[in-house]
Amino acid sequence: MAASMLSLSSLLFFFFLISSPISHSRETNASDFKIVEATVEEIQAAFSRNDLTSSQLVDLYLRRIQELNPVLRAVLEVNPDARDEAEQADRERRGGELVGALHGIPVMLKESIGSKDKMNTTAGSYALLGSKVARDAHVTKRLREAGAVILGKASLSEWYSGRSSEAPENWCARGGYATNPYVEGGSTCGSSFGSAISVATNMVAVSLGTETDGSIICPADRSSVVGIKPTVGLTSRAGVIPISPRQDSIG
Ligand SMILES: *[C@@H]1O[C@H](CO)[C@@H](O)[C@H](O)[C@H]1NC(C)=O
Ligand SMILES: *[C@@H]1O[C@H](CO)[C@@H](O)[C@H](O)[C@H]1NC(C)=O
Repeated sequence: MAASMLSLSSLLFFFFLISSPISHSRETNASDFKIVEATVEEIQAAFSRNDLTSSQLVDLYLRRIQELNPVLRAVLEVNPDARDEAEQADRERRGGELVGALHGIPVMLKESIGSKDKMNTTAGSYALLGSKVARDAHVTKRLREAGAVILGKASLSEWYSGRSSEAPENWCARGGYATNPYVEGGSTCGSSFGSAISVATNMVAVSLGTETDGSIICPADRSSVVGIKPTVGLTSRAGVIPISPRQDSIG
């Protein structure tokens, strides 16, 4: 036992010796950027060091969504134009033109936040599938103006759980049952669970959610991420499927 452990550890040591120069040189490769727990600030720094492009980051996130979403069911749709938007952001950056503080940063929107693009805005329901919104929600417009790439639409409790008091809070007709990323069978809370889970599992660094009564802070708590519910009225609700003008907040 002791002998085999010794030979195992010397083998590992040897492996470490021969593998470390390789892994070291790979750290300089742009595609090796670590998206796990990456903040917007770290992403911006990697962009400006030319260690990462927006297109590469979109690819990393899309791969992550493809791998994890079948189990977590946190994302309803990915933006078919995300790659093109990222390439445009990269072109602008190469030309020295930065449109705003979120230039090339992928952002996920709760699906009930209107986006006038190829994606749907349905509150998770089949009833609105295929309908077209007249314009971007004001928050969506502001994100695009700041240079953000809209990566996709996050799942939510269908109609913010307004359809039935019996419906489980992790249920969305279009998305199915969402899964807590830390505890199998644990609560995801609602209604912005997709926004919280997508950030917790590094499918994106930043997601917008909405809250009427705990719908940002509760899912953020259950998925162990930071959720910010702005004071009601500080963020525009225009173009977001509403519940209550006295209580709704986008954050
Ligand atoms: C760096 O990544 C690119 C793909 O983006 C790959 O083609 C290339 O071989 C990598 N270079 C090294 C040194 O690993
Ligand atoms: C939006 O819904 C339509 C169905 O009406 C679907 O064909 C389309 O793929 C959806 N968009 C995306 C990006 O999934």
